[in-house]
Amino acid sequence: MFWWPDLVLGLQSVTEATIPITKPERLAKEDSLSASQRALFDEQADSWVQARWSNKAPMMFSDFWANSLLELVDGRHRGMKVLDNMCGAGDMLRTLVRHFQQVYAADLNEKLVRAIPAAVRQRVGIQVADTRYLPFKDESFDVVFVRGGLHHIFNDLSGALEEIHRVIRPGGQFICSEPRSDSLLIRTARAALYNWSTKVHAGEEHPFFQQELVATLERHGFAVELALPFGYLAYTLIGFPNILPCLFAPLGNEFVIRLLLRFDRISSKVPLWRNLATAVNLRARRR
Ligand SMILES: C[S@@+](CC[C@H](N)C(=O)[O-])C[C@H]1O[C@@H](n2cnc3c(N)ncnc32)[C@H](O)[C@@H]1O
Repeated sequence: MFWWPDLVLGLQSVTEATIPITKPERLAKEDSLSASQRALFDEQADSWVQARWSNKAPMMFSDFWANSLLELVDGRHRGMKVLDNMCGAGDMLRTLVRHFQQVYAADLNEKLVRAIPAAVRQRVGIQVADTRYLPFKDESFDVVFVRGGLHHIFNDLSGALEEIHRVIRPGGQFICSEPRSDSLLIRTARAALYNWSTKVHAGEEHPFFQQELVATLERHGFAVELALPFGYLAYTLIGFPNILPCLFAPLGNEFVIRLLLRFDRISSKVPLWRNLATAVNLRARRR
């Protein structure tokens, strides 16, 4: 049946798009880790959604970030079955539904998942689920994405990676983007942020050293094929208005936003300078 957002967004139907938001039984096995993450994001869900979805800059940044991850997918085609794991309020899903016909999503926080806009939600099979207990069959996906999620599950990274590994088909791809701690400048700025901001808590997250993350993936049955620096001024200034609203306020102008995005794109290619990246984009293949 014709549905008007198809026309506006250029979307294709997803066969199982009508999967309701469900809570699998295994989610009931809540432990202190999932409880604290749920509480953290419950508390922030409203301001998070408001700050991100009502402003042009974070949306443009989110698209830029999502596209940088899409570019990593080897042999990308529309028929691939993909999962946006730890999807939050679905910022990246907006991009994924434009590029893939079968898109699924999961996140622990029901409040965030329910904030995914209806036009996107109707295209995606969504589950409220702990990433350590994913409600999908073995080898279900060609590609699993995690954007900015693993550093929240650092206390049980093995539990998360084993489960992600299980749902990717052999030879399938795991694409992730995580904040990284390699540069002293970034570590110092983050430490200041943890001190100053009420929105981020040092005890709730653990940005990785790139080598630490790569080695952990390799230990969990992945072959890391690419590790690219990502995130400079745009990432810091317009990526997270829910965390840094004061920096963001004067930067709503589209021309300024484009300049910042270009700055970040070029920065990731400049020798030495690119090592100041705040994050790393990775492609790993399930062995
Ligand atoms: C920084 S947000 C990133 C959200 C989204 N990927 C994006 O790019 O906007 C981290 C997300 O991880 C989710 N999360 C934290 N712990 C989780 C867990 N154990 N299982 C599933 N999701 C979890 C949170 O609910 C939150 O949505």
